[in-house]
Amino acid sequence: MIRAMTEADWPQVWEFFDEIVRAGETYAYPADLTSEQARALWTMSPPGQTVVLEGADRILGSATMGPNRPGRGSHVGTASFMVSPDARGRGVGRALGEYVVQWHRDQGFRAIQFNAVVETNTAAVRLWQALGFEIVGTVPEAFDSRTHGPVGLHVMHLRLS
Ligand SMILES: CC(C)(COP(=O)(O)OP(=O)(O)OC[C@H]1O[C@@H](n2cnc3c(N)ncnc32)[C@H](O)[C@@H]1OP(=O)(O)O)[C@@H](O)C(=O)NCCC(=O)NCCS
Repeated sequence: MIRAMTEADWPQVWEFFDEIVRAGETYAYPADLTSEQARALWTMSPPGQTVVLEGADRILGSATMGPNRPGRGSHVGTASFMVSPDARGRGVGRALGEYVVQWHRDQGFRAIQFNAVVETNTAAVRLWQALGFEIVGTVPEAFDSRTHGPVGLHVMHLRLS
């Protein structure tokens, strides 16, 4: 089930948020964020939203979505995704991705832009391509991967209209 994230969900989301950021392969959030700082960054307010995908007994993943830019850029949306490392490869990311695309369609966005997909993040790049996103460009060496060193950041784009 995918539903809006509540305050009570945060401790579970924080657990995998922290693990993913510390792994150093996918997100350029500040190092050593506190739980409260991370919650503020991950919690979107209208017109955006943050959702969780809940399994039988716990939260398996979360996604944020909303306008990529304010004002004259607000017809293009963006999103971020995190799936708990021990719940990967079971369709959680795809379900969240499909939800996000449909949400943008329902809200009348004209496109979705992912601003910073790490080029060595094979799972994410393949998943977004499977959902129809194209790599429109790659910013060279813009991410300092823990294991690969400086690698590119893809800008990925899906036209909705
Ligand atoms: C990227 C991420 C969201 C994928 O979530 P997931 O639940 O493991 O993905 P799914 O099980 O739904 O797999 C969906 C697709 O992703 C791709 N994929 C998933 N794991 C993969 C892997 N290890 N290697 C290659 N492709 C993979 C496949 O194309 C798969 O296709 P399928 O649906 O036909 O099987 C998850 O790995 C994650 O949270 N990573 C850390 C944070 C992150 O990278 N967020 C996205 C930043 S742009």
